[in-house]
Amino acid sequence: MLKIITVLGARPQFIKTCILSQLLRFKHNEIMIHTGQHYDYNMSNIFFNELQIPKPDYNLCIGSGNHGFQTGNMLIKLEDIYLKEKPDLIIVYGDTNSTLSGALCASKLLIPVAHIEAGLRSFNINMPEEQNRLLTDHISTLLFVPTNTAKSNLRSEGIVDHVYNVGDIMFDTLIKFKYIAEKKSQIIEKLNCSINNYIVATIHRAENTNDVNRLKGIIEALNECNENIVLPLHPRTKKCIKDNGILVSGKIKVIEPIGYLDMLQLETHCKKIVTDSGGIQKEAYLMKKPCVTLRDETEWIETIECGWNELVGTDKYKIIEAIVNIPFEKAHPALFGDGNTSEKIVEIINKEERFLLRPSF
Ligand code: UD1
Ligand code: UDP
Repeated sequence: MLKIITVLGARPQFIKTCILSQLLRFKHNEIMIHTGQHYDYNMSNIFFNELQIPKPDYNLCIGSGNHGFQTGNMLIKLEDIYLKEKPDLIIVYGDTNSTLSGALCASKLLIPVAHIEAGLRSFNINMPEEQNRLLTDHISTLLFVPTNTAKSNLRSEGIVDHVYNVGDIMFDTLIKFKYIAEKKSQIIEKLNCSINNYIVATIHRAENTNDVNRLKGIIEALNECNENIVLPLHPRTKKCIKDNGILVSGKIKVIEPIGYLDMLQLETHCKKIVTDSGGIQKEAYLMKKPCVTLRDETEWIETIECGWNELVGTDKYKIIEAIVNIPFEKAHPALFGDGNTSEKIVEIINKEERFLLRPSF
């Protein structure tokens, strides 16, 4: 039995952990640390409730702030807990500041790190996520990649040992909750949406919200594209729209961030998806929905290559054209595994258990 600390803090990480955490606890002792990076009810607690994720053993209550403030404060608080709990392994997910802090703190104390969703690259080092994932990969012991592209990205950086392609962990959660969402969610009725006749849009990337011209391009495209749009708005984007006085058409249904079940339900019954989210690009593919991605590059290039996703950046005319013209592709290869990623990760951790360097503390 290992003592495993899972570090998480942002919305997609709650969604990623839910099944793995359950499976790990059959054999191992899992301690969960929530950094508090996301803290609003509908950015955090709603996911713990809906997905029945155990209450975190610690909440560091770090909150929002600049990167140095957030990462540094997490490091300080994590170190105290790691030293007290003396874990055998740290698990981190994805590419947020919580990911990097969790991994870096472990690495300094010589505690092995398992990085889930390793190997992804946008090759844009200006993105905070690219910095976080690159650094995390280089100090991780077990690297769980979702795609072959991610595996070859690691190989080209000289990382070849203990790299496992296990598929995408978000697929596990999607499969489990899609039908529960169908039964429980009433979002379609509540928003008065007609099936297959609306677009779900999300915007939150730093590169789109920190640059007012990019954000304006996106919002103007949504205003003018002549589609029914539902826009669950990340608090970061809401603030930027307000601070910069950007006009959002009254025809767009702007709502607060929603829970996972409502999100799945909106994705299931929409016509198309417009987003700058990493997770939602994958969900669009898994739901067989054409996706227009509001970025200049993506880590999920397979979805572009097979025609279901189009990268358009933030030029208003390009976005509108893509929304109108993106085709409904027929071929749908299994890009993200078969939905049992969590199971595979547990098997590998169990197998690797005896090779893990036991920290001496
Ligand atoms: C973070 C991740 C990003 C991930 C996203 C998932 C980093 C650097 N970025 O971006 O990779 O895609 O989470 O959603 O880690 N805010 C609230 N309430 C909250 C949380 C945030 O109001 O509960 C507002 C604050 O004004 C805050 C801003 O959103 O300053 C940004 O939050 P932050 O966690 O820094 O980054 P995200 O944009 O959420
Ligand atoms: N999501 C959600 N409610 C929302 C917006 C997104 O439940 O209002 C889910 C979405 O279905 C996906 C995940 O959050 O599973 C994606 O997280 P986000 O877009 O915040 O981050 P990213 O994946 O870009 O890191």
